[in-house]
Amino acid sequence: MKKIIAANWKMNKNSKEAIETITELSKILNNSLPEEKEVIIFPSFISLEASTHALSSTPLQFGAQDVYPAKDGAFTGEVSPSMILDAGATWVLTGHSERRHVIKEDNTLVGQKTSFALASGLNVIACIGETLEEREAGTLYDVLTAQLNQTLAKLPTPLSPERLVVAYEPVWAIGTGKTANNEDIIEAHAIIRELLKNILGTSASQIRILYGGSVKAENAPEIIKLENVDGLLVGGASLKAESFAKIINA
Ligand code: 13P
Repeated sequence: MKKIIAANWKMNKNSKEAIETITELSKILNNSLPEEKEVIIFPSFISLEASTHALSSTPLQFGAQDVYPAKDGAFTGEVSPSMILDAGATWVLTGHSERRHVIKEDNTLVGQKTSFALASGLNVIACIGETLEEREAGTLYDVLTAQLNQTLAKLPTPLSPERLVVAYEPVWAIGTGKTANNEDIIEAHAIIRELLKNILGTSASQIRILYGGSVKAENAPEIIKLENVDGLLVGGASLKAESFAKIINA
């Protein structure tokens, strides 16, 4: 099972800047990836197609940061799975904490997005994670259980396990410079692995679980080795080709 190193660029970089960063990244990487690693870039919707077209010869994969769970229709401002596939992307993020907490998406909508995207042929990184208040109230297990159960409530079958990835991103560690410590990460990832077994049975061991939240070139080598950590979802430190390349090579 290859580890996934993913770059979530959030609302940063226009098309020109996206192409420049990806071009620089593939130069640093000599247009090849370390064995046993997959790299996925999530540019903004507006620069997604330009990125995939300009860089179709790189080993990088691309994804969208969000998706709407309908084929087409009167959904102003939204983007469908087929539009994302048409733009040359194969992955999508669902349930990112900024969509849950800033845009106020709930577990039901995140579940609909996850199942519809998978059924439409996109691969999904479904994000879950607790807030600081939830952690301090001792509700980590309950929060992860509710988020994961509802996110994966209606998965299409059959589903190849490599098409579904779960990202654990504690909200208090995102963009704050505070990384969860090793014990926190091991505990949360073990909970997620156990929950995945309840939902998916034996194929749960093949679902990759990524950690995200203030991952940097300095802490990536240690985090990537932890038990049940099958990759990293990187925000701020993925915006510069040099630091993201170091994380890819960690
Ligand atoms: P930072 O790496 O900037 O903390 O962001 C993490 C994240 O939200 C990735 O999806």
